[in-house]
Amino acid sequence: MLAEFLDTSDEWIYPRTGVKSRYVISDEKLEEMAIEAANKALADAGITAAELDYIICSNVVNEYITPQLSCIIQGGIGATCPCIDINCACAGFIYALDIAESQYRAGRVRNVLIVCAEEPTRMPDWADRSTSVLFGDGAGAAVLTGGDNIKGISLSSASATDKLYQKRTLQPTPYITKEEIDIPLQMKGQDVFKFAVKASSTDITKILAQNNLTANDVDHILLHQANIRIIHAIRDFLKQPDDKFPVNIESHGNSSSSSCPILLDECRRNGRLLPGDKIVLSAFGAGFVSGAALIEL
Ligand code: COA
Repeated sequence: MLAEFLDTSDEWIYPRTGVKSRYVISDEKLEEMAIEAANKALADAGITAAELDYIICSNVVNEYITPQLSCIIQGGIGATCPCIDINCACAGFIYALDIAESQYRAGRVRNVLIVCAEEPTRMPDWADRSTSVLFGDGAGAAVLTGGDNIKGISLSSASATDKLYQKRTLQPTPYITKEEIDIPLQMKGQDVFKFAVKASSTDITKILAQNNLTANDVDHILLHQANIRIIHAIRDFLKQPDDKFPVNIESHGNSSSSSCPILLDECRRNGRLLPGDKIVLSAFGAGFVSGAALIEL
């Protein structure tokens, strides 16, 4: 389909990215997908919306500048608790876990809903083959309840704002004299690639060391699904077998912060995750920001 209007091919895209197909939003709204994911997670957790103490929504772009997406989700699922949006790019799920964990440790919450809802296919110029072939849309949600399954979270940020960015114009004021233009997603692919491998390898090594573990002690390493070659490079750095790295990039592409919870849910539903398993989640994205979490089931 892409090759019909872009100078590209499956022979270029698949070996370089690992993407075969992905989901692209059409007339449905992102908030509808977010609410559906939230309701499914609540049903799976056996928690009602009324029992939620906090909702965190991770999102990079959606049609609303205001109100926040988390408030729209709150109304859609019938919750009444406080809610907050975060934009930590593709690392949003890990940052949301960190906020939830902090709130829980402070004794302020029992049940937290995290929803990652992303439509990154609406960020690049679809005539730009270097970006438009990478992304897929989706939403993933998780309910966190009391416990000590999160063994640690490591976050890092390294400002490099010219490597991956998009700019939009706002309404003019009488005082703005310079011309303003919308800039679709811009990416220095090789810089982002190198950052991703280094940041994720460092985050994972750090979180394991903090818990007196090595990668050999971990059962599953769930990486942000940005590019299969990034995943393979991190796998090689950690010297771990391929089967520790569940992947779905082939059918989803890069769905930004939704990637981790969608992959987690797929692993859970296909019986891959067993009680007692140790999981590392690691994600990275524009900013740059990155983070890893160690979870024991
Ligand atoms: N189809 C065909 N050719 C393409 C293409 C496409 N979709 N996209 C780029 N090319 C061309 C380039 O124009 C370039 O041509 P040239 O050599 O004639 O100049 C050539 O392919 C190589 O481009 P390059 O950018 O060096 O390729 P790459 O091997 O670095 O792969 C990415 C590009 C984007 C796949 C890779 O850099 C990447 O995955 N980076 C990380 C991106 C990412 O994960 N972003 C999100 C992070 S959350």
